[in-house]
Amino acid sequence: PHRSRIFSGMQPTSDSLHLGNYLGALTQWVALQDDHDAIYCVVDLHALTVGPDPAVLRERTRRTAAQYLAAGVDPARSILFVQSHVPEHAELAWLLSCQTGYGEASRMTQFKDKAAKQGTDGTTVGLFTYPVLMAADILLYGTDLVPVGEDQRQHLELTRDLAQRLNSRFGKDTVVVPEAHIVKATAKIYDLQEPTAKMSKSAESPNGLIELLDDPKVVAKRIRSAVTDTEREIRFDTAAKPGISNLLTIYSALSGTDVATLERQYEGKGYGDLKKDLAEVVVDFLTPFQARVNGYLADPSSLDAVLADGADRARELASPTLDRVYDRLGL
Ligand code: ADP
Ligand code: NA
Repeated sequence: PHRSRIFSGMQPTSDSLHLGNYLGALTQWVALQDDHDAIYCVVDLHALTVGPDPAVLRERTRRTAAQYLAAGVDPARSILFVQSHVPEHAELAWLLSCQTGYGEASRMTQFKDKAAKQGTDGTTVGLFTYPVLMAADILLYGTDLVPVGEDQRQHLELTRDLAQRLNSRFGKDTVVVPEAHIVKATAKIYDLQEPTAKMSKSAESPNGLIELLDDPKVVAKRIRSAVTDTEREIRFDTAAKPGISNLLTIYSALSGTDVATLERQYEGKGYGDLKKDLAEVVVDFLTPFQARVNGYLADPSSLDAVLADGADRARELASPTLDRVYDRLGL
């Protein structure tokens, strides 16, 4: 039977991914490998839109790939590669940008938000055309399904619009029109200090973050200092008790114990007990995870070989798509 193809990626814009990236995306990527043809990319071309230092970008690209591997992305089953190693991404992005309306691109709310913060002179054209590059990433591989969070939904809609436009202007089957892969049960993780905001590497303060490569002692301290509420009851209620609910979500996701069982287990106990136990659960997860990441980083030639093999396999899929689009456009 035909296995659906999925594509996903993350930007190498920080030294470490955080627990939201892990529980909201990576664990899902790993599970999807079982019955999909999965392609997972470190999208370093996207990261260029924010003007990173070259040496820092190179290091973060490797660290991001190592974290994918440590989470369980399996290069024997899935394609794991770095976006810039496959030049077809940049090439298709140009072709697609000439099919994208200026007004259409101007309606992307993520761009509008970022440009409003940075001012037009502090904003690159690359940031403006970012969703077009994302469309190229997806369309190059004949992707059927794209796991997307709420924040990427509008970009995926643009991708679908572009795919349908190519097929109607230049012939059906020019590209595959992808669908959103709706994630049923992935956890959304919130900031420990501001538990109504999602945990994000762009947070103002690192104190609300659990970074996968942080010192476990620092992580344990952040969990003990997490914002809660003035009640005493350990109960899952995101509206009234966002802090406690977030701690329960993390606990449940990492331990495999469902939230209702945890609520019963902590009946009559205090927030301090919950935090102390959760810190232990998180540290027990992080310690072997970090050992695996360090193993990959300590052996650069093996990591390079994995990424080179991934890029070769990605190009085998990307190149015929790009050739077809060039041809149909008259090039
Ligand atoms: P960030 O907000 O830290 O920059 P990204 O936007 O790069 O994270 O997201 C990368 C992936 O991680 C996406 O699939 C996104 O849905 C997921 N993700 C990011 N933050 C969280 C979170 N707090 N909870 C659950 N999933 C998250
Ligand atoms: Na983000």
